Amino acid sequence: MTDRYAVIGHPIAHSKSPLIHTWFARQTGQDMSYEKILAPLDGFAAAVQAFVGAGGRGINVTVPFKEEAGRLATRWSERARLAAAVNTLAFDGDETYADNTDGLGLVRDIRENLGRNMAGQSVLLLGAGGAARGVIQPLLDEQPQRLVIANRTASKALNLAAEYAGLALQPRGCGFGDLAGDSFDIVINATSAGLTESALGLPAGLFASGSLAYELVYGMETSFMAQARSAGASVSGGLGMLVEQAAEAFLVWRGVRPDTAPVLKELRATGV
Ligand code: ATR
Repeated sequence: MTDRYAVIGHPIAHSKSPLIHTWFARQTGQDMSYEKILAPLDGFAAAVQAFVGAGGRGINVTVPFKEEAGRLATRWSERARLAAAVNTLAFDGDETYADNTDGLGLVRDIRENLGRNMAGQSVLLLGAGGAARGVIQPLLDEQPQRLVIANRTASKALNLAAEYAGLALQPRGCGFGDLAGDSFDIVINATSAGLTESALGLPAGLFASGSLAYELVYGMETSFMAQARSAGASVSGGLGMLVEQAAEAFLVWRGVRPDTAPVLKELRATGV
């Protein structure tokens, strides 16, 4: 029987995940289907329950349910626990396994697709919400020279950084104003400002020569990308991260890691 998977979110209409996973399934010869499910804002758990009841084997979780998804699990990966957010659930009998592949997706895109080694680099993460939280541990695992977390509301960045106290490399939290005079090799925008098109209000001079500016949002030119571009940085949107996090979720479910390069190429060719 064909195994059923889905992505659940609100909104969900524009999700590329069904396309990506359908390509992965074809490439790896896996007998599976992948659909999108719009859950009401107060109806995530019920939507998951209905899908599992109908034989669903796994789901991807997107905005705004990533925190809530963790509460449905019976077992968590270490990275999902640290992120306090979940983008992948796998159902097996009475067990619901929760994982978060977003951070690894980001790191793989930067390392494998963009060819940037983060080891020894100075890295700046903008934002201190769910998206930022999801990528911190995988970034630290790359052993950058330093990781600074900067947020419009400085206290949130300080609190988030403090959660990693005691590690060999501890991130530093600060406000945007505290970045004046500093510069970084890799700047990652994990704020949701791109979605509203509002400017971030970053100080000038943030991008070191030859730096990479990475926007987690995909499919649009955000003000962060425009600022980075005019400062001479190499700029990337989050499409590669989307494909890489999907490949890691596919691996969790099926035990096979698809080849992401042809899928990324195909998506780019369709103008995403
Ligand atoms: P997400 O799950 O996408 O991370 P979130 O948890 O609501 O969403 O967090 C949104 C993040 O984007 C926060 O870091 C927020 O900054 P504040 O903590 O100061 O609110 C940041 N953000 C949103 N709009 C922004 C803007 N116009 N300028 C700067 N930061 C912004």
